[in-house]
Amino acid sequence: GTSRKMSFGFNGKMNGVEGKTPFLIGVSGGTASGKSTVCKRIMEKLGQVDKDHTERQVVCISQDSFYRDLTPAEKLKAEKGQYNFDHPDAFNNDLILQTLRDILAGRKCEIPAYDYRTNSLIKDKVTTIYPADVVLFEGILVFYFPNIRDLFHMKLFVDTDSDTRLARRVPRDINERGRDLDYVLNQYMNFVKPAFEEFCLPTKKFADVIIPRGADNTVAIDLIVQHIRDFLSNRCRVVVEPESPISRSDETL
Ligand code: ADP
Ligand code: C5P
Ligand code: MG
Repeated sequence: GTSRKMSFGFNGKMNGVEGKTPFLIGVSGGTASGKSTVCKRIMEKLGQVDKDHTERQVVCISQDSFYRDLTPAEKLKAEKGQYNFDHPDAFNNDLILQTLRDILAGRKCEIPAYDYRTNSLIKDKVTTIYPADVVLFEGILVFYFPNIRDLFHMKLFVDTDSDTRLARRVPRDINERGRDLDYVLNQYMNFVKPAFEEFCLPTKKFADVIIPRGADNTVAIDLIVQHIRDFLSNRCRVVVEPESPISRSDETL
């Protein structure tokens, strides 16, 4: 029956008793590939339907909220464009792991707030994440460390050409992140591009679904949204009728 389908779909990571375990989706891809935009589209499309389920929630968290706070010396380097924000060690990976484990356990958690203009965490500002049905976690290196990568039920990689990404990053960083053209181009050549090739691109092979052209790819986004919907409706069923070894052997007869 339907309960079987669901158990396999979840890779045994959920036992059907913890109904609050959210569907955790990792979204990676190079800088300015459209990760944030794809997540926004998925959230919009999931929000439109299921209006009867008032408790249903979709939440998106960015890996950028987990940048490490810099020492004064590192801060000076960052201001001169000499700090590598694209290296896996630039993130507080222990906190990422703990936060995702809390989310999977259905616990409320707090996410730091990050300011790209000052390259620092915003003091005394956190966002509280309440247990949700779907949680998207997006960032350039969310599939880098195996212990973090293994937590996702679904892994997406937004695959957009490098020149398109650079053409989008330049105006975004100038308009939204307080940078000038020289800074953006130097940082891109010295850190962003080499780190993408060394750390981000090799994680593409771990993705379940690769989304060419990012947010423009409405067919891919619709397929993903439909898969999430199917998953959520199957999950509701399994809580009511958990799988048993007896019913399984019955069905094979
Ligand atoms: P990421 O989160 O991967 O860095 P964003 O979603 O922030 O990427 O996109 C980077 C920039 O490109 C943003 O300014 C965004 O508005 C713009 N952008 C994203 N997708 C598209 C698209 N399909 N067409 C045009 N502009 C886009
Ligand atoms: O949204 P996006 O995936 O582009 O965000 C990640 C990028 O943000 C990284 O490529 C990194 O170079 C940049 N970044 C930055 N300054 C910071 C923190 C991150 O330029 N203080
Ligand atoms: Mg982004």
